[in-house]
Amino acid sequence: MIVGMKQKVIVTGGAGFIGSNLATRLISEGYDVHIIDNLSGSKKERVPAGAHLHVVDIRNFNEIEPLFVSVVCVFHLAALPRVQYSIENPEETHEVNVTGTLNVLRASAKHKVKKVVYSASSSAYGDQEILPLVETMPARPKSPYGAQKYIGEVYCKVWSEVYGLKTVSLRYFNVYGHGQSHEGAYALVIAKFLKQKNEGTPMTITGDGTQTRDFTHVRDVVNANILAFKSDKVGAGEVVNIGAGDNYSVNKVAELIGGEVVYIPARLEPKDTRADNTLARKLLGWKPTVTLAEGIAELL
Ligand SMILES: NC(=O)c1ccc[n+]([C@@H]2O[C@H](COP(=O)([O-])OP(=O)(O)OC[C@H]3O[C@@H](n4cnc5c(N)ncnc54)[C@H](O)[C@@H]3O)[C@@H](O)[C@H]2O)c1
Repeated sequence: MIVGMKQKVIVTGGAGFIGSNLATRLISEGYDVHIIDNLSGSKKERVPAGAHLHVVDIRNFNEIEPLFVSVVCVFHLAALPRVQYSIENPEETHEVNVTGTLNVLRASAKHKVKKVVYSASSSAYGDQEILPLVETMPARPKSPYGAQKYIGEVYCKVWSEVYGLKTVSLRYFNVYGHGQSHEGAYALVIAKFLKQKNEGTPMTITGDGTQTRDFTHVRDVVNANILAFKSDKVGAGEVVNIGAGDNYSVNKVAELIGGEVVYIPARLEPKDTRADNTLARKLLGWKPTVTLAEGIAELL
């Protein structure tokens, strides 16, 4: 490499919530950041200054493949990431979440990208008898989305073993923080409550609100991506939980935000999630740095 030349990285889904936070961080660290995003779930304005935006669709291999020349790392985040939407649209979400991932792996292998960091999901676990959720448990996805994200992990591992492409899958647990969308029927709980509070309407809690989630701040997820790229201990398709390691009920989230609540019918969703993050600490040297109370206070 020529001294002074920036290293080229790709962030798929880089106009989205987590992707735009990651792209901002990579730019600040001096990388040449290329974003692949069809803007189906995001806006051009979200793309950080200094990033190169390519408005292309990961379902189209021929469109994305030429962009993978001379890339050191691909952070693969592009997805249709909503459980309920996947239940209503299993085919479309399969095309994006599975075929799209396959295309990203094929293009990465073809151009000998040094590493692919895949954004996987705790939804691969579904319901398990015991907590915390540990990577050795069998996957039991409860939705097309969970299944699709899990297939992505399996493909990553196969691409490492069969084609020698370095991959690692990071299973995120309920990510929240700056830049999260609060629009539409699929907004995630913290963003939805904040919006309702701002509008002066009661926060809508599904079911009895005792369901718990391991909420993980987006800064910690960004850290995990950078560490996964740099760590020599991963690259063989490892699956690593990225979760704060604490779980809070939806009632508790409403209490931290403060305001009126109203209960609405339950959805099909796992009762509880909580990550065992031992492996992330061991392989990546990662640890969570933002507590839920701090993260919510920051958003308020
Ligand atoms: N947010 C969470 O709590 C969470 C939890 C677990 C895993 N994840 C994973 O993290 C990743 C990012 O999630 P997010 O919350 O930032 O979602 P997001 O919807 O904000 O971002 C996804 C981005 O992908 C883009 N995209 C969608 N379909 C595309 C296509 N066909 N071609 C190109 N781009 C396309 C969208 O326009 C959007 O900008 C996803 O892979 C998701 O499965 C998120």
